[in-house]
Amino acid sequence: MFPTTRIGSLLHRDHMATVEALEALERLLSKNRKTPPLDAALKDWLIWLAGLLRAEVETHFGFEEDRVFPLFLAQGQTGIVEILSQEHETILPMARHLAAMAEAAVAAGRFADADWATFRMKGGELIERELFHIQKEEMGLLAGIAALIDPATDAALADAFAALER
Ligand SMILES: [Fe+2]
Ligand SMILES: [Fe+2]
Repeated sequence: MFPTTRIGSLLHRDHMATVEALEALERLLSKNRKTPPLDAALKDWLIWLAGLLRAEVETHFGFEEDRVFPLFLAQGQTGIVEILSQEHETILPMARHLAAMAEAAVAAGRFADADWATFRMKGGELIERELFHIQKEEMGLLAGIAALIDPATDAALADAFAALER
């Protein structure tokens, strides 16, 4: 279902960008059972990935928790908020850890073999959890928002969200 609100569209756009990045990470992990050398392109990509992962769990998750979840709570829809909030709590440290590992490897110029093995395992876990989380939000949250907000609230939320991303 396509979101019919501006804020829904913005959250959806973030979700799609994150899904694309996670799919690219999945390809990197599956084609490199052994530690890959870090050439300039891979270093750049890892730094970009680290930034995207942090933005997702800090800015995007934070906005959902501060501005979107309360709309559902106000309607008594506590179940969906509890599930999504718990997933945020689980995913946030995983994403930060993976981002930090990527940055440390780039700074060192290489992944140690043991670190690459950990990165692959932790990366696989993050991909699975975050894709599942995004699917749930796409189905439950974005469809639900349209029923909960009027156009003025939508505009205020969309402007606030756009300001965060600048
Ligand atoms: Fe979320
Ligand atoms: Fe989200």
